[in-house]
Amino acid sequence: MCVERASCIGDLAKQAHRRVPAFAWGFLDGGSGDEGGLRRNRERLEAVTLKPRFCTGVQPDTSAVLFGHRYAQPFGTAPVGMGNLLWPGADLAIAAQARATGVPVVISTVASTTIEAMAAAAAGNAWFQLYYSRRPDINRDLLRRAWEAGIRVLAVTVDVPLAGDRRRDVRNRFVLPFRPGVRFVLDVATHPAWALATLRAGSPGFPNLAPYVGEVDGQTLAGFITSQIKDDLTWDDIRGLRQMWQGKLLVKGLLAPEDAARALDAGADGVWVSNHGGRQLDAAPAAIDALAAIRAEVGGDAVVVMDGGIRSGEDMVRARVMGADFVFGGRAFYYGAAAGGAAGAARAVELLAADLRRTLIQIGCPSWSALDRGWLWR
Ligand SMILES: Cc1cc2nc3c(=O)[nH]c(=O)nc-3n(C[C@H](O)[C@H](O)[C@H](O)COP(=O)(O)O)c2cc1C
Repeated sequence: MCVERASCIGDLAKQAHRRVPAFAWGFLDGGSGDEGGLRRNRERLEAVTLKPRFCTGVQPDTSAVLFGHRYAQPFGTAPVGMGNLLWPGADLAIAAQARATGVPVVISTVASTTIEAMAAAAAGNAWFQLYYSRRPDINRDLLRRAWEAGIRVLAVTVDVPLAGDRRRDVRNRFVLPFRPGVRFVLDVATHPAWALATLRAGSPGFPNLAPYVGEVDGQTLAGFITSQIKDDLTWDDIRGLRQMWQGKLLVKGLLAPEDAARALDAGADGVWVSNHGGRQLDAAPAAIDALAAIRAEVGGDAVVVMDGGIRSGEDMVRARVMGADFVFGGRAFYYGAAAGGAAGAARAVELLAADLRRTLIQIGCPSWSALDRGWLWR
């Protein structure tokens, strides 16, 4: 298998599927419930058709300005917890891509690599994602660490008041407390490259939160994390967070237009439209539909970013015409890293950037910033 032969993100996903054990694949690829939200993200994106314009001779500019910074590409890597489960070193491979290409990486609170190590590897191209803790001291310290690591953009995720109903994990016995059975052992044994690499690197944990729990083993730490996420978060908490963070603040996981307005009202600098990649509420709308509704609610000047189902440059253009200033992918990059480590992560960025450029030329649009609803078929 060679990631260079992958012609699209779907090819990287196929390679990743073969390369990692079923439980790790299910963790990455799966959604919640019957996975309606997951499917809808793709179906509704594909339903957006574009109006190609010809004889324009464009040489498109794909860069995007967000929060006063010009990014070479209008996309980044969404926060992914426990990413090194897919392949040891996946988080750092993606952070290194951020450094090499300027595509920002958002470090999850529950990443399997520390904020400090990922931010250093990303060299100024890292953001931080906060799961708001019940304990104010943890929130304060995480924000301090992010700031000291040079991070200036924070996304607070609000769509996890509790864990989603992840049925693939239950079927694969990838649940806590972790009790590996025969099937699990066979699963690992039949993926020797992954098993060896993971054995060498050690099983992935939650190093960002480990300092706050003292001496515990992995299981207790996972239990601690679930119990620490604040399940009764309010807009007042978001207002409080606004006071605590001097950088830019996005509220991630919004779908209702009313909530987008409330987030901005609470002092957020922007809204991150997402249904968590179909991993929380199965009946959630497709992110692309919520994006259009939120853009209509907040108007043209508000910063609106989105994720959910983005697998190509065409998808990014679809998101742009429906109102996104910037887009993120979660699985796309981790499919790449799982398929081929650093080379796979690089291939994912390369494929997405090339497809974005190709799409802009095919529709005759001079730049990401010029893209608007005029390119929507109807
Ligand atoms: C394996 C996995 C772990 C995730 N972990 C987090 C997380 O720790 N924090 C968070 O805000 N979102 C998390 N997400 C959601 C992503 O940030 C993003 O919203 C989603 O993956 C976008 O959909 P896509 O994968 O179709 O691009 C996770 C998604 C996946 C697939």
